This record gives sequence, structure tokens and C-alpha cells, in this order.
Amino acid sequence: MPRNAMAQLTNRNFIIGVTGSIAAYKSAELVRELSRAGASVRVIMTAGAQEFITPLTMQAVSGHPVHTELLDTEAEAGMGHIELARWADAIIIAPASADSLARLCDGRADDLLTSCVLASPAPLFVAPAMNQGMWANEATQANVSTLQDRGIKFLGPDSGSQACGDIGTGRLMEPTDMVLNIATHFSSRLLEGRRVVITAGPTREPICPVRYLSNHSSGKMGYALANACAEAGALTTLISGPVALTADPAVSVIRVTTALEMHEAAIREAASSDVFIGAAAVADFRPASVANEKIKRGNKSSAVIELVANPDIIAEVARIDDRPKVVMGFAAETENTEAYAHKKLIEKAIDCIFVNDVSDKTIGFDSEFNAGMLLSSDATHELKPMNKRVLASHLLNHLVTML
Ligand code: C5P
Repeated sequence: MPRNAMAQLTNRNFIIGVTGSIAAYKSAELVRELSRAGASVRVIMTAGAQEFITPLTMQAVSGHPVHTELLDTEAEAGMGHIELARWADAIIIAPASADSLARLCDGRADDLLTSCVLASPAPLFVAPAMNQGMWANEATQANVSTLQDRGIKFLGPDSGSQACGDIGTGRLMEPTDMVLNIATHFSSRLLEGRRVVITAGPTREPICPVRYLSNHSSGKMGYALANACAEAGALTTLISGPVALTADPAVSVIRVTTALEMHEAAIREAASSDVFIGAAAVADFRPASVANEKIKRGNKSSAVIELVANPDIIAEVARIDDRPKVVMGFAAETENTEAYAHKKLIEKAIDCIFVNDVSDKTIGFDSEFNAGMLLSSDATHELKPMNKRVLASHLLNHLVTML
């Protein structure tokens, strides 16, 4: 994790609330990661949590007695629940069971954790962990929307295989990813006053009124980056090809269809911006001419479409007079990933490039996940498989370092 992100956690106070879920053992790792970053951690466990992991384990990793009871005179004499609530810079409930989400939603105060949450002005993060059916249930989803409307931040859940044998959404986010998200929250104004322009999604190159050439890009990576930049305080413009995604309201979205339209918008918007990120999968070629009428099959046994090259948008942005300070590209490769990416870095005269291996079907394109390497002229960072929102936070932290 970049040093500037980790530094945001040093000397901060965190309450980790552990509720009853099979993923409770992972909260020990979360406590260790936060402590390693220089944070102070106090743990509150519900009765359910203690069925899965002992207070002794959590005491050992946090270095402090664990808080379990609301009405414990001895504990209240040490650090009572109101004092704990005031002490915290953030409360993180991880894992958060379906029941705990429902209880938070109702504003209950019949145990130490819920009382502390009610009493605390600190931001609240919840990392849900439950069976995929429980997560997808309308009741849980209604609770999630209510909590989100109240400004509570959700860490995950992730998708994948579950302890019960199901596969789906409901896995606890990995502790290292949680730590990064929390760090990003505290460094959330890292791009205050900066202008960021991002391209995302595919382009569509018309052949005739009903057909076009395009590619599999989902736009997820570019949208995740735009949301992360806007959250970090940047004035963010997203130039989006045709995708079925919506960006956060703070992002200004310019919708385009073809590479030429994307090119025009990018050159116009990139001038005097601080950062340009080319996450779009721009079609390299377009049909030389677009038929006015639908091309008929007739009795032809083959057809030829003449293609002409589209402008290389990012390479042109990197060469304009009022060039953005940092230009970040993306490269999808199927072999010699690092060597090809280095070549592009130099040929396009950009500052860094994130390269991934698209022959690996578990990442890239339409996947929720991505992994790869961020290369600049003097450094290489490997980024292991993670969801695209978390990857966006990593890339954002590198951008800030480069700025
Ligand atoms: O050359 P290649 O397409 O692999 O390079 C990928 C990078 O270049 C991406 O950042 C992409 O957004 C950008 N690009 C562009 N205009 C093109 C082709 C690629 O901006 N015509």
C-alpha cells in the first residue's frame, strides 16, 4: 500500500465492532493491519461474535481488554461506552451480520456496540458478511439503502465462494482492502482543487444505420476511478462510451459514442486539467465510410469493410501544449505484458500505464476484479487481484504521489 495512504491511519483511534458471523476470525487480521499502520484499536464484541472467536484472541491482537458488556460497572469505570464513542475517529463493524444491519437500521441500543454507534459522532463503516441469499433478500437490501442514505459507508461485501458452500455476494471484504478504503476515507481530500478527466468504456464505430464495431469493455474500471477521484475532492469529468453504468452525482459525465467524439471531448477537456486517465477501450479503427442504408446480405458470400485508423486519444492528450501533469494509460495484453506496456509508455509519451493480462478470464473486461502492474519510467508496482473499486483507490494514491 502506498506510504501516503498508510500515513493517514497513524495515531488514529478505531473501534472495531465484531458481530456474529463465521467471518469473525478475519477481524483479528483487520485489527493487526490497523495496528501495524500505527492506529490505536479497541474491540467491541457482541454475544454472537463470541461464539465464533474469543475475546482473548482480540485482546491479544489489539493489546487492550475487549469490551463486551453494556452494563459492566468495572468496564464502565475504565472506558465507558460514551467515552469509547467519543474516543473513536471511526467505528468499523466487521463482520456485520444481517441481524446487526437490521439493528443499526432500527437505532437499537440494547447492547454495547449499538449504544456506542448511537452515541458516536465518528464515521461508521460496515463490512457485511453473510450468506448470499441473506444479502440479496429484500429486507437486507432495504436496510442497506436506509443505512447508506444516513451516510454509513459500506466496505463490500465481496463476491465469491462462501463458507456455507454457496457462491455469490456476501463475503467479507479482505482486511487489507478494508484498511485501504478506510485510509482513503481519511485522505479523502487528496485531490481537492484538482481537475481530473477520465475516458471510460468502449467506443462504437458505425458501419451502417444498424451495425457497429465495438469491444467488450464494461467501463467499470473507469467509473470506479471517476467515483474515487470525485470522492477525493477532484473536479471530475468522465467521458464515457456507451455503457449501462451511472457515475456518482459529483462526477460530470459527457456521453459519447464514437472514437472521434471521444477524441474531440478529450482534447477539449484535458487542456488545463491536472490528471488525464485513459481507461477507455477506444476502437483502433473505424469503417472508412458509413453506409446511409442498411447493408443487405443479398446473395453475397463475403463482404469487405475498409477501416481507417482512429486518433490515439491519450497520445494526443500527452502532446497538447497545456498538457495534464499526469497522464495515466491502461493496456490490456495477452503476452509479454510488461515489455509491451513499457513500449506504450514511451511511444505515447505518458507518465504511467496500468497493464493487465486479459488472457486471464478471472480479471479485466466485464469482471468485478482486476489485477496487473502499474509502470512508470522509474518504478513498477504489482497490484494483486482485487475489486475494481479498491484498485481505483490504489491507483488514486499512486496518482497523488506522482502529482
Ligand atoms: O495502444 P493501446 O490501445 O493498447 O493503448 C491503450 C491505452 O491508450 C489506453 O489508455 C486507451 O484508453 C488509450 N487509447 C486511446 N486512443 C486510442 C487507443 C488507445 O486513448 N485510439
